[in-house]
Amino acid sequence: MKLAIITGASKGLGASIAERMIIEGTGIISVSRTENPELAKLAAENQVFFAQYFCNLSSPDELESAFSELTALLQEKQPETLYVFNNAGVIDPIGTAGNLDHAALIQNAHVNLIAPIMISNILLREVSSEMTIVNITSGAAERPIQGWSAYCSTKAGINMFTETAALELQTAGSRHKIIAFSPGVMDTAMQGTIRSSAKEAFHDLEKFQAYKEKGMLRDTETVANALVDLLLQKEIESGKVYYVNDLI
Ligand SMILES: NC(=O)c1ccc[n+]([C@@H]2O[C@H](COP(=O)([O-])OP(=O)(O)OC[C@H]3O[C@@H](n4cnc5c(N)ncnc54)[C@H](OP(=O)(O)O)[C@@H]3O)[C@@H](O)[C@H]2O)c1
Repeated sequence: MKLAIITGASKGLGASIAERMIIEGTGIISVSRTENPELAKLAAENQVFFAQYFCNLSSPDELESAFSELTALLQEKQPETLYVFNNAGVIDPIGTAGNLDHAALIQNAHVNLIAPIMISNILLREVSSEMTIVNITSGAAERPIQGWSAYCSTKAGINMFTETAALELQTAGSRHKIIAFSPGVMDTAMQGTIRSSAKEAFHDLEKFQAYKEKGMLRDTETVANALVDLLLQKEIESGKVYYVNDLI
């Protein structure tokens, strides 16, 4: 059997990745704080495995505990292929350096950077199935956006982790692969948070408000399909950052 672990599958891009993977006959292990009952229903209709792990990824203790149960499940299921989508992400704190809320900053670093590294570390240590890890990144990893210093920094960090881990896997002769995927701007709750930020906190507020007004935000189904088509139909290059605009 094929399985996919998806963080942040409760909504947005993660939910669309889960829906497409279910249609492809891949079992889903969903990791998030809230659940999306539609996914369990779709999985049942398609007769594929589905499990929900409730976990706040900003807590290393909760992550360790959820993934200790989850790796025991993988030992039992022994999937021949395992996909891991490190998709959960947060944009806050939005604000200029000098005005950042530290609790939000710590949460951002944990969810966007530390959790994907810990998850990769645990699974590379514990899992024998052939594994492809996909870290969802952002264009903000590669260009400074005023008001997003935390988000830009953590997404830049995940790109560098991806490149470094890929080199290590190659040197070790491993069959596992790790890539990053930049999904472009999408119509999700995260964009709602961005549009509701204060002008003094976010320099490009009007530009992002216009993306929504002019219908320039992609729907998550289109983006998820581009990513899953890449994984299922192409030979992927470990360590590479893939951009949705090159795939559509
Ligand atoms: N939207 C865009 O325009 C855009 C652009 C570039 C990159 N991205 C990236 O794409 C990915 C998906 O974003 P999205 O727009 O789909 O976001 P979204 O709609 O806001 O969904 C975020 C997901 O992350 C999960 N999450 C957030 N904090 C969490 C925590 N502490 N513990 C566990 N799960 C947590 C949420 O689940 P729960 O609330 O259930 O925990 C939710 O499922 C992110 O990595 C984001 O940085 C988005």
